[in-house]
Amino acid sequence: MAKIIGAVTTSHIPAIANAMANGLEETPYWKPFFDGYPPVRDWLNEKQPDVIILFYNDHGLEFFIDKKPTFALGVADEYHNADEGWGIPTIPPVTGESELSWHIANKVVDEGFDLTICQEMRVDHGLTVPLNLMWPGHKYGHVKVIPVCINCEQHPMPQPKRSYALGQAIGRAVESYPEDLKVVVFGTGGLSHQLDGERAGFINREFDLKCMDQLVSEPEELTKYSNLDLIEIAGAQGVELNMWIGMRGCLTGKVTELHRNYHGPISNTGAGLLLLEHEHLD
Ligand code: DHB
Ligand code: FE
Repeated sequence: MAKIIGAVTTSHIPAIANAMANGLEETPYWKPFFDGYPPVRDWLNEKQPDVIILFYNDHGLEFFIDKKPTFALGVADEYHNADEGWGIPTIPPVTGESELSWHIANKVVDEGFDLTICQEMRVDHGLTVPLNLMWPGHKYGHVKVIPVCINCEQHPMPQPKRSYALGQAIGRAVESYPEDLKVVVFGTGGLSHQLDGERAGFINREFDLKCMDQLVSEPEELTKYSNLDLIEIAGAQGVELNMWIGMRGCLTGKVTELHRNYHGPISNTGAGLLLLEHEHLD
């Protein structure tokens, strides 16, 4: 059977890709951020997951204000990046896993989630920056990725409790898949940040650290926030916490924190990193 063996959370700020493209990892500004990553890379290299289910948000590359799925699932065998206007290089394609994707689509729609199912989907920095952080030099081609896209840009957005429930349904779908696959779930984006308006640059470090604690040990607490609560407490883009919450919903067994890092601001964002181990309780 397919098994979820762990989870990773990470920021997806485009400036990270720029720093990596220009070899700035050891500079004083970036070092406290990048120093968090080697233990996570080592764990991934040791465990060699077959599939990454990656919760991310699309900031306007594939879904703009003209069409905005609440939840979208990729079912392709390959995903491409494209120029988003940040000046970061366009990168090699990401490998998909269409069979498990379709299994998840069938199960989750049967459970009552009205997903947008995408046989073609360009993926933006929300998906590509986390992959490049885990496999620098864009060496992620060997791992199959299933993109789960949550609307965090345009109201109305799904509430945290709905993102969590989606994660739970995806977790159940994975566990019912007969092939022996090692799956790791990524929750990306966040934590607190606001990119626009009078509060641009707003970060709530105390809240971010509390979120990281609660995500590990009492995730249901995070589902009590509404998106408007998150905007007030964590900035307009703090709603990206939904991706972390969706990821955590997939983990129904025993969760152990193996590693964490928090540093901020990086660009305008409080950047949190977590590595969680997941053991099934059956
Ligand atoms: C930044 C953060 C984001 O989440 C994003 O999508 C783009 C930019 C930033 O802090 O620069
Ligand atoms: Fe973002």
